[in-house]
Amino acid sequence: MTDQVLLRGRVLTFTAEPADADDRAAYRYIEDGAILIADGIIRAVGDHALLSRQAHGVPVVDHRPHLLMPGFIDTHIHFPQVQVIASWGAQLLDWLNGYTFPEETRYADPALAAQMAEWFMGQLCAHGTTTAVAYCSVHEGSAEAFFTAAARRNMRMIGGKVLMDRNAPEALRDTAQSGYDATKRLIAKWHGKGRAGYAITPRFAITSTPEQMEAAGALASEHPGCHVQTHLSENRDEIRFTLDLYPEAPDYLGVYEHYGLLGPKTLLGHSIHLEPREIDVLADTGAKPVFCPTSNLFLGSGLFDDAGLRARGINNAIATDVGAGTSYSMLQTLNEGYKVLQLQGQKLHPLRAFHWITRGNAVALGLEDRIGTLEPGTEADIVVLDSSATEPMALRMLRTRSLSEELFVLQMLGDDRAIAETYVAGVPQKHAKSARRELLPA
Ligand code: GUN
Ligand code: ZN
Repeated sequence: MTDQVLLRGRVLTFTAEPADADDRAAYRYIEDGAILIADGIIRAVGDHALLSRQAHGVPVVDHRPHLLMPGFIDTHIHFPQVQVIASWGAQLLDWLNGYTFPEETRYADPALAAQMAEWFMGQLCAHGTTTAVAYCSVHEGSAEAFFTAAARRNMRMIGGKVLMDRNAPEALRDTAQSGYDATKRLIAKWHGKGRAGYAITPRFAITSTPEQMEAAGALASEHPGCHVQTHLSENRDEIRFTLDLYPEAPDYLGVYEHYGLLGPKTLLGHSIHLEPREIDVLADTGAKPVFCPTSNLFLGSGLFDDAGLRARGINNAIATDVGAGTSYSMLQTLNEGYKVLQLQGQKLHPLRAFHWITRGNAVALGLEDRIGTLEPGTEADIVVLDSSATEPMALRMLRTRSLSEELFVLQMLGDDRAIAETYVAGVPQKHAKSARRELLPA
């Protein structure tokens, strides 16, 4: 028997990146709209009056006056850093050594990893995020916990255990061989199982020997269906250290290029301080820079040149980077992103912003045929947005006159309070049990 539901509300979905504020052809907005879902798949989108006749007898969830949009996509986040977020006072390398690496050693414990993975998925849903691309810890068990928790909620999640065999505490080091073997086992077990996807994850050049980079390159060529994720040019000290470790590399990106890690499925977190040659290589290979604004401001890393990269035809993704990022909310990510671009005389119009965290990130991941839009046949990951969720928002909303103005209120003032509900494959998650506080460790 099919499991059907009709969601009613104001529907907004993008069919292309809006070229400007007046690009009405790039999106579909239906004032009294509806989405028909059956067995976790979107079957139809249209006027409520029309769809309710077509779907006679199907239960209706009335979300008016809220906005129904595709679930948000976070393209870079660290699952074992949920208790690192908001750690004071350091820039990247000190922050890693002082806070992050010690914390990640705890994920050797499968029970802790399982508990935090449940909590992690609950927080994503609470913030309207239905797909994320995540770094797990070096421990195979942390990736097991991550994929198990995602499968329990039927979330489309991508992740991988980090490969790191130097410049980290002993307890966080694998070897070129053991990291390769564990990644192989995880890919065989999880990649393509249900909604799971694997990302081959050399953490960054500093924490991998050339032998491990070689192994990562082998994994990438043996598994072309997997994503590859790593970090690039986030911090000036990081870049200097990388070039000391790889003296023959022409630049930081040249390290990943040399080991065959670059292609359209490669996600490069941060990509801030880039040389002209590196930008050429990004354009040539189709690798995707990932803009992480709350993280870049928090660690004092620098300002991402969105317009400069876009002018070269490079397709940037956007992400939270929790726990250097300071919010799970893709709305707060847009807020800080807007300000980072303002500092450089660039703009982030709300239409482009909401395209970016939905269809735009789906395109960057090569998944736009499955997620990121409300096209019939795609997976029913849907967020319900309340633009008047807080008093400052409600007051501001009384003075808005257009959809763009409303979206900008959400972009600047919204967070998890603006997420009225989150559907994953058609199933509401926002008030799911695993998001509740009592599951937190004592
Ligand atoms: N570079 C290598 N590892 C990390 C990490 O965990 N967070 C950030 N922001 N940068 C990194
Ligand atoms: Zn990161």
